[in-house]
Amino acid sequence: MTDRELLNLAKEASEKAYAPYSRFKVGAALECMSGRIFTGCNVENAALGSTMCAERVAIYKAIAEGEKDFYRIAIYGESKDYCMPCGACRQVMSEFSEDMEVLCARATGGYVSYRLNQLLPHTFKLGDF
Ligand code: THU
Repeated sequence: MTDRELLNLAKEASEKAYAPYSRFKVGAALECMSGRIFTGCNVENAALGSTMCAERVAIYKAIAEGEKDFYRIAIYGESKDYCMPCGACRQVMSEFSEDMEVLCARATGGYVSYRLNQLLPHTFKLGDF
């Protein structure tokens, strides 16, 4: 799967977002080492703290289906700037991946690519306590 194909899946997933509060739709597409793909969208809630980001929806779907080894994740936001994963999502990614690739896209076109280590250096992880 090319970067562009994965990013397109993230964009498609964003169309399913439930975001009546922020009106900011986000989609994610996670590619596992096995080649399986899991998508997610943000799911908001009137109790705002119960909102879940698109990235974590995709990751938790994969975990629930028995996948734990992730190759990369594409994130698409209906934004002018590249949609970067929030701190909580970076931490969740780091639970399952040393250094996965993170592709961040924006509505106005284009994307940037990072390694998780760049986005979350010196992570707190399994074995640290
Ligand atoms: N959001 C995501 O789903 N992923 C991100 O990377 C950034 C933020 C969602 C959460 C909330 O529904 C909305 O965007 C505004 O914060």
